[in-house]
Amino acid sequence: MIPSCLTLQLTPFFPSPLLPVNRLSLLSSSTFPAFAAKSRRLAFAATKAPSISTMAAEQENVGNLKRKLAKLFQLSLDATVPGEPDIEPQVAACTAKFGDYQCNNAMGLWSKIKGRPGIEFRGPPAVGQAIMKNLPQSEMIESCSVAGPGFVNVVLSKNWMAQNIQKMLVDGIETWAPKLSIKRAVVDFSSPNIAKEMHVGHLRSTIIGDTLASMLEFSNVEVLRRNHVGDWGTQFGMLIEFLFEKFPNFEDVNETAIGDLQAFYKESKQRFDVDAEFKDRAQKAVVRLQSGEQMYRKAWAQICEISRREFDQVYQRLGVHLEEKGESFYNPHIPGVIEALTNQGLVEESKGARVIFIEGINIPLIVVKSDGGYNYASTDMTALWYRLNEEKAEWIIYVTDVGQQQHFDMVFKAAKRAGWFPADDRQYPKASHVGFGLVLGEDGKRFRTRSSEVVRLADLLDEAKTRSKAALIERGKAAEWTEEELEQTAEAVGYGAVKYADLKNNRLTNYTFDFDQMLNDKGNTAVYLLYAHARICSIIRKSGKDTEELKKTGKIVLDHADERVLGLHLLQFAEVVEEACSNLLPNVLCEYLYNLSENFTRFYSNCQVVGSAEETSRLLLCEATAVVMRKCFFLLGIKPVYKI
Ligand code: ARG
Repeated sequence: MIPSCLTLQLTPFFPSPLLPVNRLSLLSSSTFPAFAAKSRRLAFAATKAPSISTMAAEQENVGNLKRKLAKLFQLSLDATVPGEPDIEPQVAACTAKFGDYQCNNAMGLWSKIKGRPGIEFRGPPAVGQAIMKNLPQSEMIESCSVAGPGFVNVVLSKNWMAQNIQKMLVDGIETWAPKLSIKRAVVDFSSPNIAKEMHVGHLRSTIIGDTLASMLEFSNVEVLRRNHVGDWGTQFGMLIEFLFEKFPNFEDVNETAIGDLQAFYKESKQRFDVDAEFKDRAQKAVVRLQSGEQMYRKAWAQICEISRREFDQVYQRLGVHLEEKGESFYNPHIPGVIEALTNQGLVEESKGARVIFIEGINIPLIVVKSDGGYNYASTDMTALWYRLNEEKAEWIIYVTDVGQQQHFDMVFKAAKRAGWFPADDRQYPKASHVGFGLVLGEDGKRFRTRSSEVVRLADLLDEAKTRSKAALIERGKAAEWTEEELEQTAEAVGYGAVKYADLKNNRLTNYTFDFDQMLNDKGNTAVYLLYAHARICSIIRKSGKDTEELKKTGKIVLDHADERVLGLHLLQFAEVVEEACSNLLPNVLCEYLYNLSENFTRFYSNCQVVGSAEETSRLLLCEATAVVMRKCFFLLGIKPVYKI
C-alpha cells in the first residue's frame, strides 16, 4: 500500500496560485544545484505568501498608527522620488520630544539618489523637507517638522487621538487587533514527557506558548494549540515492565495506586540501571510495544492516561488550554514521509543510519537510527509534514528551551531542502522556533529544590498562591472579603505573578525564579499591575457614573500634557501587540503594559478625575486604560482583579 502521505507528498500543499512545475524545478535547481536532478520530478510546494512585514498592511488595521502614517509617507515618497518606486517608509515612534512619530527615510534615500542626473536635492535635510512637503493632508496630523539630517517629525492631532480612543471604547478593543494574512497556525508548546517530570522548562514553554497562541487568536488566526507530549520512546519499555512487575492486575491500576508517576519512573530507572535481566526485558518490551502487542499497548495507554491527568491539573490551574497530539500520533506517517524524502534524494546513508545533510551544519539530521528505529527528528519531520499538509497550517511555531534550537534549525532546513517552504524566509508557509533560556535559582544555578530535585510545577503554584494569600491577609483583606474572594484573588495574583515574571524578560535570557521579587507590589510585577488595574476600577466605581452611558454621551479631550501622553500610549496598543505577535516576543507586550500603568499613575497624580470639570473625559480615559490593561492581561494569561 502506498502510504497516504506519499501520495499527498507529490501533490502541491496549497492549490493556488502555483507556478508550472517546470518553472518550479528551475527554482529549486537554482537554489539547491546539487539536488536539482532529483527534485526536478517533484512539484515544489511553496506558494507565494505575503511576508511578515507586509502581512498586516494588506487588510487595514484601523488601530495601528504606525501603519496609518506609513501609508501617508508611502504616498509622499512616491511623489518625492517618482523614479524610485518600492521604497518602504521607515516610520517609528519618536524618542525625542519633537513629535510623536518620525519618518527616517531621508538619509538612506539621499545616498541612493545623490549624483543622479535630474536630482535637485542638496543633502538629506532637503530630501526630508520634500518628504514633509509631499505628505498628504490628513486629519490625524497636527503638524510636521524636519530635524537634523532629514528626520520628518509628526505631531498627531489630539482631537483625532481622542476620537479614536472613544471609538475603541464604543466599538470594542477587537477593532485594534492586528490583522494577519494567515488563517491558521500551529503553536507547539508545553509538550512534557510522559512519566517524566514536568519541570520549570515546561512551565516556561506553557506560559510563553499560551501567550503567543492568544496573541495570534486575537489577530483572528485559527490556532491549533498542540501539546506534542513525549509519549513514545525507549523509556516505555522500562515503565511497562515495571508496571507488570508491581501490579500484575495492571489494568485496574489508577493514579492513586501508582501514587506518584515520577517516583515510579525513578524507581523503574534504578532497576533498569542495576538489574541486567530487567534491562533486557525492558528493551524487549519496547519492541513488543512498537510492534503493537496488545498487552503492551494497554499498559502504555494506562501510563499515558495517568500522566495526562496530572498534566491536566496543572493546565487547569494555569487556565491554559491545549490539545494533545503526542509523538505517537505521528508514528503511522513516519515511513511514508521518510520514503518521500528518500525519493527526493535527500536521505543518505551515514554510519549505518539514514540521515539528511544540511548545508553549514557539520552533523546531519538522523531520520532513521542505525538499528532501524525512529527518533525525535523522524517524528518532528513527520509532524511538520502533517501540519503543513493535513492541517494546512501556514505558520508553525515551536516553543522549547534554546537547547533545542539546533534540532529545529536542522528540521526546518531539511524541510526547506524538500521544498516544503518557500526560498524566501519571510514568506509563508513558515516555521519558527521560539527558544527560551533557563530558569535559575537564587544561587544562580539551574532551579532546583533544596534537595536538588526538579521543582514540581504544582508545588510552585501552591507556594505562589499561599504567599499571595498571606500578603492579602496582612493587608486586612480576610476581614473585608469573603473566603471565596480571598481565594480567587490570591490565585489570580499568585499565578499571575509567576507568569508575568517569566514573560517580562526577553525570552532568550535566563531568569531567576524569586518569589519575593515576583510577589512584590512595587516595580515591574504582576502584583503592581493588577493593583493598578483594581485602583482604576475603584476610581470609576467611586465616581458613581455609568461608563456605558458616558461612552455614548461624553467626549474625551486630551488637553493636559499627561492626558495626551496616556492617550498616545493607549493608541499604541495596536502596533505593540502586532510587533509582539509578529516577532513572537511577549516581553514587548509586558513592557507596554508596565509603561501604561506608569503613564496612568502620572496622569492620575496630576489630573484630578472625580469632581473636576473634566470628570467625564477623564473617567473615559480611566475606562480606556482599564480596557487596554485587561486585554493585555488576557493575552498574557493573567486574570484581572477588580478590587484590592
Ligand atoms: N517533549 C519535548 C521536551 O520535553 C518537547 C517537544 C517540543 N516539540 C516538538 N515538536 N519537538 O523536551
